[in-house]
Order: sequence, then structure tokens, then C-alpha cells
Amino acid sequence: MWSYVILVLFAHPLVMMITGSIAPCPAGCTCPPETVECTNMGLVRAPAPLPRLVRVLNMDGNSLYDLESVSFRWLPYLQQLSLQRNNIERIDEHSFAQIDGLRRLYLTENNIGVVARRAFRRLLRLRRLYLGRNHISHLHPDTFRHLSRLKIVHLNNNNICTITEGLFEGLDNLEELTLSHNCLSELPDGAFRDLNSLHTLLLHNNKLEYIQPRAFTGLQSLTSLNLSNNSLTNVTSHILDDLPSLQVLELRNNRIGFIGPEAFGAAPNLTYLYLDFNRLKRPPVFDHPHPGLRFLSLSGNEIEQIPDVAFQNVPNIHTLLLGRNKLRHVPKESLTVVKKLVVLNLSENPIFELREHSFQGLENLRLLSLRDCQIRTVSGEAFSGLNQIMGIFLNGNRIVKLPSETFSTMQFIFSINLNRNLLRHIETGAFGNHSASLRRLFLQNNRLQRVPKLGMGMMPNLNDFYLDRNPIRSIGPLSFAHVPNLRMLGLRSCNLSHVHGAAFEGLGKLRQLDLRETTYGTYHPRPSLICLQILWWR
Ligand SMILES: *[C@@H]1O[C@H](CO)[C@@H](O)[C@H](O)[C@H]1NC(C)=O
Ligand SMILES: *[C@@H]1O[C@H](CO)[C@@H](O)[C@H](O)[C@H]1NC(C)=O
Ligand SMILES: *[C@@H]1O[C@H](CO)[C@@H](O)[C@H](O)[C@H]1NC(C)=O
Ligand SMILES: *[C@@H]1O[C@H](CO)[C@@H](O)[C@H](O)[C@H]1NC(C)=O
Ligand SMILES: *[C@@H]1O[C@H](CO)[C@@H](O)[C@H](O)[C@H]1NC(C)=O
Ligand SMILES: *[C@@H]1O[C@H](CO)[C@@H](O)[C@H](O)[C@H]1NC(C)=O
Ligand SMILES: *[C@@H]1O[C@H](CO)[C@@H](O)[C@H](O)[C@H]1NC(C)=O
Repeated sequence: MWSYVILVLFAHPLVMMITGSIAPCPAGCTCPPETVECTNMGLVRAPAPLPRLVRVLNMDGNSLYDLESVSFRWLPYLQQLSLQRNNIERIDEHSFAQIDGLRRLYLTENNIGVVARRAFRRLLRLRRLYLGRNHISHLHPDTFRHLSRLKIVHLNNNNICTITEGLFEGLDNLEELTLSHNCLSELPDGAFRDLNSLHTLLLHNNKLEYIQPRAFTGLQSLTSLNLSNNSLTNVTSHILDDLPSLQVLELRNNRIGFIGPEAFGAAPNLTYLYLDFNRLKRPPVFDHPHPGLRFLSLSGNEIEQIPDVAFQNVPNIHTLLLGRNKLRHVPKESLTVVKKLVVLNLSENPIFELREHSFQGLENLRLLSLRDCQIRTVSGEAFSGLNQIMGIFLNGNRIVKLPSETFSTMQFIFSINLNRNLLRHIETGAFGNHSASLRRLFLQNNRLQRVPKLGMGMMPNLNDFYLDRNPIRSIGPLSFAHVPNLRMLGLRSCNLSHVHGAAFEGLGKLRQLDLRETTYGTYHPRPSLICLQILWWR
């Protein structure tokens, strides 16, 4: 009688759980509740005895190579098995036959070359399968047959050059599929036909040259598609027809020279479009209105000119990246329609001058980069209208002179970078009376012979002021009186021969003063520089 009660008691799952959790932990492993972790131990087979109630078994970083000899016996409660970074070479029909409750299987970074046709046949509850970084070149069309609960499949970094027809058939719960870093050169028609829950499809770093019109049929939930680092040359009208939910499309690092006028026609929710590092001579034509498009990257193309109407159908862009192209002028007319622009990057274009009102109408722009262009002349009114601007990058140009009023209307300006120019002269009014908000000013590597007087009034918020590598010979008394809140002052390699005793007078908050590589004799900070923490000297 008693033995019967005990038997019944022990068969109860709750009791089994309790007894299971006090079962001994295999030597050398750690056993948090319901978990056995035996990582980086050089194991060639599963440790024994394994508590039968284990739910999570982690054997990452061991030397398993033959799953037959690993022999996972009946572990009915196992939900997660992690065998990453081992030397497993093949998965056979029986490898996982005894652990059919598995939900998550991690096999990343092994040497798996062979996956038996029925390897996962019994894992009907499997939700996540990670097979990335192996040597898989072929998957039988039945490999995932009946695994209809799969949500995530990673097959990246293998040698998969073709997708067998029917491979993904029936996986209508799949949400994420990663096929990046393989050798796919084409996608069969309807390859992803049944994947109506898929939201992320990663196909970057393959050899795709061409995409069939029906390649993406069925992907009605897809929000993110990555086709970067392939060999695409054309984007024609059909590609996106079947992707009504698409939000992020990455086509970077291809050889795209042509984009059909209707290419982005049927993607009403497209928000981010990456076309950087291709061979485009002009921006894509947006035939249909795309009020949702916020981000457009065209950096690293061969764009010489932008038609005036180029952005008419994408009026809500807030980031436009045009760096490293061949523009010789600011594309002023085309920019007048993108009034919500917040970030504009025109760096590394051969733009040689900034005419007046170059950015007219961009009253929401916060960040403007004109770094490493070839700008020589800047109109005093070049930046007029940029009422919200916070950061301007003009470093790496050939600007000799900054006229009065250049930055005068920028009420919210935070940082101006003029490093690496040929500035000899900055007119007193260049920063106007309104740049009170300026915090950081970079004027290194210019030809300034004296400390420029920045504004007509004070610049009470300037914290960081870099004047290094200018041929400033002497610093007179109160040279920095108009910037009383400086914290960092850089005067490295400035060939100073004379510094007035009261040069830094009034800089009561200065913390760092860089006077390295000056020829100036001796310098003893005055007691008034009470906050000075770092003095670089010699
Ligand atoms: C898309 O592919 C590119 C190129 O390999 C990569 O840099 C980027 O991180 C990928 N994006 C996503 C979301 O995976
Ligand atoms: C894209 O491919 C090129 C070689 O074709 C490589 O140099 C580059 O690192 C790749 N980019 C990414 C993000 O993988
Ligand atoms: C598309 O690319 C092919 C070369 O791959 C080229 O022959 C064809 O003219 C291109 N189509 C268009 C419309 O430019
Ligand atoms: C587009 O986005 C809106 C708002 O997020 C959403 O309601 C709509 O269903 C999306 N359209 C498609 C086709 O996914
Ligand atoms: C502008 O684009 C260039 C490359 O095109 C990039 O290196 C740089 O970081 C970008 N600058 C800003 C401020 O975004
Ligand atoms: C700037 O301020 C100075 C004195 O504070 C004043 O004389 C000058 O007219 C002002 N200039 C402008 C453009 O407001
Ligand atoms: C400082 O003087 C040296 C020697 O005269 C010269 O080579 C160097 O270019 C000068 N540095 C600057 C920033 O003018």
C-alpha cells in the first residue's frame, strides 16, 4: 500500500520536478534550476548522469563531433539544447530522436556539412533553430517538413548556393530567416511562398545578380529585407510588388546602376531605404508618393546632379545621406521640398563653394555635414534660414575666410567644426550675436595668426575651444574674456612666442589647457585658474 502511494507520488510531475532538481549535477558542470551547463570542458559526449528533468542543457564550446556517441537519452522535459562551438560534422536521422520536446536548438559554429533529410523530423515543437556558421551546402526539401511552429531559422555563413524548391514550404509561423553570407546566386520563383508571417529576411553577402519578379511572392508580413553586398545591377519594377509591409530595404554595396521608375511603387510603408555604395548616377525616381519614407542613403554613388523634382514624392525624409558622390553644387532646388529634413550629409563631394541661401527652406535641419568637400568660398548668407541647426561639419575644406554673419542666425548651434581649413581670418561678426548656445568650436589646423574674436558679444556657453596647430605667435591679455566658461582650451603646436601674464585671466572654469609643443618659455598658471586639472605642457 505505502509503496503504491510512494509510486504515485513520485510519478506526479511536481514531485518529479523537486526530485529532479536535487539530482546530482554532473561533475564539472553547474546546475542552476532546471538547467545543466557544461561549457568549455573538452567534452566529447554528454555528461552522465543527466538529471532527467533538465529543461536547458548547454554544452557550448566542447569537442563534440559525433552526435551518435553523444547519445541524448530520453530527456522528456528538455526544451533548449545548445551545442555551439563544437566540432559536430553531421546531423543524422536519430541525433535528436529522443528529445522531441525541444523548442530551441543552437548548433551555431560547428563543422556541420551533412544534415540528414529527416534530422529534425520529430522536433515538432521546435521554434528556434540556429545552424549558422557551419559548412552546409545542401538541404533536402524535407528538412523542415512539418516543423510548422518554427519562428526563427538561422542558416547564415554556410555554403548554400541554391535554395531547394519546397524547402520552406508550410512554415507559416516563421518570422525570421537568415541566409546571409552564403553563395546564393538566384532565388527560385516562390521560394518563400508560404512564409506569410516572416518579418525579417536576411540575404546579404550572397552572389545575387538578378531577382526574379516572383521571388518574394507571399511575404506579406515582411518588414525588413536585406540584399546588401550582392551583385545586383538593376532594380526593376517588380521586385517589391509583393512586399506590402516592407519598412526597411537594404541594398547597400551592390552594383546597382539602374533603378526602374516604379521600383518602389508598391511598398507603401517603406521607411528606410539604403542604396549606399552602388553605381547610381542619379537618385532613384519615386513614381508614387512615399509619405512614410524617412531615411534615404545614397552615399558612395556616382551622383553628379540631382534633378529638381527628385524628392517630390518623398517629402517627409528626415535623413538624407549623399556623402561621397560627385556633386559640384549643393542641390538647392531639389532640397526645397524636403522641409522636414533633420540630417543632411553632403560630405566628400567636390563642392567648391557655398552660395547664398544654399539651404533655403530647411528650417528643421539639425545636422549638416560638408566635411572633406573642396569648399573655398562661403557666402555670408550660405546658411541663412537654418534656424534649428545644432551641428555643422565644415572640416577638411579650403576655406580661407569666414565673412561676417556666416553663423549669425543660428540660435541653437551647439558645435561647429572648421578643423583642417585654410582660415586666416574670421571676421568679428562671423558668429553674430546669436550663437550664444555654441558649446564646441574646432579651429585646429588652420592659418590663424591670432586668437579670433568670435562674436560681438559674449559666448557664454562655449566649453571646448580648439586652436591647435595654428601659427598663433602671441596671446594678449584677456584674449578669452568673451568665452568665460571655457573648460577645454587647445593651443598645442601653436608656435607661441609670447603669452601675456593675463592671457587666460577670467577663465575660472578652465579644466584642461593644452600647451604642448609650443616654443614659449615658461608658463605658471595663475591662482585664478582655480579649476585647472590638466595642464599639458611640453
Ligand atoms: C545588412 O547587410 C549589411 C551588409 O552586410 C550589414 O552591414 C547590415 O548590418 C545588415 N543589416 C541587417 C539589419 O542585418
Ligand atoms: C561587402 O563585401 C565586400 C567585398 O565584396 C567586403 O569588403 C565588405 O566588407 C562587405 N561588407 C560587409 C558589411 O560585409
Ligand atoms: C539591367 O541589367 C542588364 C545587365 O545585367 C542590362 O543589360 C539591362 O539593360 C538592364 N536593364 C535596364 C533597364 O537598365
Ligand atoms: C502600414 O503601416 C500602417 C501603420 O503602421 C499599418 O496600419 C498598415 O497596416 C501597414 N500596411 C501594411 C500593408 O502593412
Ligand atoms: C557623412 O557621411 C560620411 C560618408 O559618406 C560618413 O563618413 C560621415 O560619418 C557622415 N557624417 C555625419 C556627421 O553623419
Ligand atoms: C550685436 O551686438 C552688438 C553689441 O552687443 C551690437 O552693437 C550689434 O549691432 C549687434 N549686431 C547684430 C547683427 O545684432
Ligand atoms: C611652427 O614653426 C615651425 C618651425 O618654424 C614650422 O615648421 C611649423 O609649421 C610651425 N607651426 C605652425 C602651426 O605654424
